[in-house]
Parts: sequence; C-alpha cells; structure tokens
Amino acid sequence: MIVTSSALFTLAYGKYALGAYNINNMEQALGLFRGHLDAEAPFIVQISKGARKYAGIPMIEAIIRAADKIFPQAIYAVHLDHGDEATCYDCIESGFYSSVMIDASHETFENNVAITRRVVERAHARGVSVEAELGMLGGVEEDIAVDEKHAMLTDPEEAKRFVEATHVDSLAVAIGTSHGAYKFKGQQSLHFARIANIQQLLPGLPLVMHGSSSVPQEEVARINAAGGTLDPSARGVDVNEFQRAASLGVTKVNIDTDGRLVWTRVHREFFRDHPAEFDFRKPGTLFVDEFAKFVVHKAEKLGAAGQLAHVRNELS
Ligand code: G3H
Ligand code: 13P
Ligand code: ZN
Repeated sequence: MIVTSSALFTLAYGKYALGAYNINNMEQALGLFRGHLDAEAPFIVQISKGARKYAGIPMIEAIIRAADKIFPQAIYAVHLDHGDEATCYDCIESGFYSSVMIDASHETFENNVAITRRVVERAHARGVSVEAELGMLGGVEEDIAVDEKHAMLTDPEEAKRFVEATHVDSLAVAIGTSHGAYKFKGQQSLHFARIANIQQLLPGLPLVMHGSSSVPQEEVARINAAGGTLDPSARGVDVNEFQRAASLGVTKVNIDTDGRLVWTRVHREFFRDHPAEFDFRKPGTLFVDEFAKFVVHKAEKLGAAGQLAHVRNELS
C-alpha cells in the first residue's frame, strides 16, 4: 500500500526513523520489499533523477508496481529523491509518487524558499508530501559538487524561517553527513547539538538525514579482497546513532551507497569464486537475499522493525 511520507512520519516522529532506499533495478526492489516484510517495517522507496534515466520512467515505476503485487502487505511511500522543480511537477502530476523532494539547496535562501513554495502548492493540491533541503552536505549529489570546505551545517533560525515560509512537510538538514562512500576519515559522529537546536525551534517537524550510509569496513574489505580498490579508510554513519537521532526528530534516513556496496560485494565474490559462470541470475538471487537481510538490519537499528501492524491499524 502506497501512503504519503507525511502519514508515515506522523506515526514515527520522535520514536523511530523510516529507512529511505534508492532503487534502480528489479533485484533491489525485490530485496527491499521482502526485507521490510521480514522486519515488519514500513519504509520509503526513493527514485533519483539518475534512476529515472537509467531504467526509464515507465520501467522504474512498473518495477515498484510489480513489487506491490508480489508483496501486498508492504506499506511504503514512493518518493522522488533530489528533484528539481520540473521533475517534481512530473512526479506530482503522474499520480504515482506520494512524496517528492525539491532540492534547491544550492540556490540562495530566497530562491530556495520561492521554488520550494511553488512545489508545495502544486504537491499539496494533489495530496503529495514535500521534502526540501537547507544547508549543504559535503560530497557529490547528482551533478552538484559541494566542496568539503564549503559544506555548511543547517542554521536553526534559518530553518525555522524556511519552514514557516514554505509549509514544507519535512526538511533535509546538514548535520555532518555527506553522500557517497567517502564521507569521513577516522572517528566521526553526527552533530547532535545542531539537531537538538533545530528540533527546539521546529518541534514536530520531521527532519531528514541524507548521506546516512555506514560504509561498513567489513564490506569494503570483502570488496577489496575480491578485486575492488575502494579506500579502506572510508567511514560512514554509525548505525548505533540512528535511534538517538530519531529521538531528536530525524524521521527519514536516506541510504543508497550501502546498498551499492552489497551489490558490489555479492557480484565480485561470486565471479571471483565462479570464474566460469555466466548465468547472472545466480548472483542476482544471492543479491536479493543479501539486500533483504541488509534492510532488516537497518530497520532494527532505525527502530522501524515491528511497527508495520501499528502503521496498518492507523492508516487503513
Ligand atoms: O543522493 C543521491 C543518491 O545516492 C542517488 O544517487 O543520483 O546516482 O542515483 P544517483
Ligand atoms: P548515501 O550516499 O550515504 O547512501 O546517501 C544517500 C542519499 O542521501 C540519497 O538521497
Ligand atoms: Zn541525498
């Protein structure tokens, strides 16, 4: 059942966070849906502009519709990740997406407000939830590169003004994370004091954490042992910090890179161990199993595991 992200946020706020996973193909969809039913957890499936281009818009949507048929018990939102204004309108008008992100964080504050406000008006008229972003994450998102030095944490006062001016349903905040596999080196933690300040000024507003992959060292080591050349000093977000962040209003946690690492590890190891093999369905099946286990583990760390029955009671 597709529901809005706002409906999920209302039930989760302050208690647990929803995992929001980028998907690009059938195998990810199968693992995502199966894993969340195994964990009895609601979730968010998110589609980037890159995914729409890679699979093609009808294909990526058909994959999700098919997964819905195979797993009719699943409760989730369908969300556009890092949308520009035109793509947001496309998704809102399509009637398929229940949630969009307008990412105008690279614009001036005033332009970000104006663009976000236009998207909110169009989206709310169609019952679609809107996420916007304020502040800059380090790393690379889509085609916008933000120099580490200029990465800025979200200013709480600005966030309050932004939300009041736009009526956005949730806000992606810069709280120390960044996209991709190379986030931090050495010891790193989320900026909890900043999250708490934002929550103080915006009580009840669901906050979104982008760049939430953990980049597990064991995963990187296995990939490298099977021929990969990833930087072994790369570090991500500690999954044991998810619950504390959730208690401070972080209600959506975006994960893409970790899923790509699972894919890479499964396929590299499979073809290393079976060099004469060329039936891609064998590693494909292994990947679906591994991806399902991976999301079960994340749902447990996010506190979303076991919430499905309550969500079903409240939303159906
Ligand atoms: O934040 C971006 C997501 O990881 C999506 O990545 O644009 O390569 O699909 P993508
Ligand atoms: P990661 O690169 O940490 O997985 O972040 C994904 C993300 O924020 C998608 O919007
Ligand atoms: Zn992101």
